[in-house]
Amino acid sequence: MNGRIHFFDYHPPVADIREEVLAGLSRRPKRVAPKYFYDQRGSQLFDAITEAPEYYPTRTEVDILESNGSQIADFLGNDCMLMELGSGSSRKIRVLLDALQPAAYVPLDISRSHLLDAATSLAQDYPELEVYAACTDYSSDFELPELPADLPRAAFFPGSSIGNFEPEEAGQLLKRVGRHLGEGGKLLIGVDLKKDKAKLDAAYNDAGNVTAAFNLNLLERINRELEADFRLECFEHLAFFNEDAGRVEMHLRSTREQQVSVAGQPIRFAEGESLHTENSYKYSVEEFQALAEDSGYQAETVWTDEGQLFSVHCLRYRGGLNGKSMHN
Ligand code: AVJ
Repeated sequence: MNGRIHFFDYHPPVADIREEVLAGLSRRPKRVAPKYFYDQRGSQLFDAITEAPEYYPTRTEVDILESNGSQIADFLGNDCMLMELGSGSSRKIRVLLDALQPAAYVPLDISRSHLLDAATSLAQDYPELEVYAACTDYSSDFELPELPADLPRAAFFPGSSIGNFEPEEAGQLLKRVGRHLGEGGKLLIGVDLKKDKAKLDAAYNDAGNVTAAFNLNLLERINRELEADFRLECFEHLAFFNEDAGRVEMHLRSTREQQVSVAGQPIRFAEGESLHTENSYKYSVEEFQALAEDSGYQAETVWTDEGQLFSVHCLRYRGGLNGKSMHN
């Protein structure tokens, strides 16, 4: 028997993507949000990054989840509705499902085909699991599928994807998740730790150039979906830890003066001008706990690996921000 899968499509229409990409390209410095990395090819390239020897976060987080599986399961609680933000290939949830039996698993991801493949294979491997997959952009107000029963809620937000947001936006996102969780809801979240620059620089400049390919694929995607004519050979991958800002930055740097056409709009690049494609903020345990507490959560437990590379936090939503209790 196969587990049941229900699919909900809240993916933004291409017209919205076009508008947002054009708006970012007309800013100074130019920028495109990292959520646009994840077309089908981008999701595959991201999976390849997680296998690169220099990219320590995925493997370290999986180790932390594996070593603390039963405590995590106790914290999240069986028979809950477990949503996952940015479920990707749904690999990490499998680690949790060995110790936990949620009543419903609700993977949320912006990459439709990747989400469908992952949800389908998960439903096959876990026949008891009800899967409510929602293709959605969780970086703004997002909807959840309607579930048959009013279950206690928990959320899993792995991979340090929270680092893609400015700290203030990250706080707002945590609050929005909190409103979906309701008072007492649980959040299990992976956060990459601050560490020495050489280690971080290497993680985003792997020798196999997978990260460079992932970054450049953004231009290919824009070419394909928004009728643009970026020449990939005229841009180079740039990634570095900006210590003052506490974040890894990724850019695509124009190697020459050039003009590109995007959805009929001319976009000029000077030689050396960069298109900022990603921030990946890093937090100490204390910094992240402070952010979570300011967003209405109580820090319950935190695990790190021996090398202090990565952290996994258990948080409980207190609700009651501004004196109001927020359920939904
Ligand atoms: C998926 C946002 C957590 O910031 O490390 C990996 C994305 N970018 N290599 C990260 C990414 C370049 C990743 N997150």
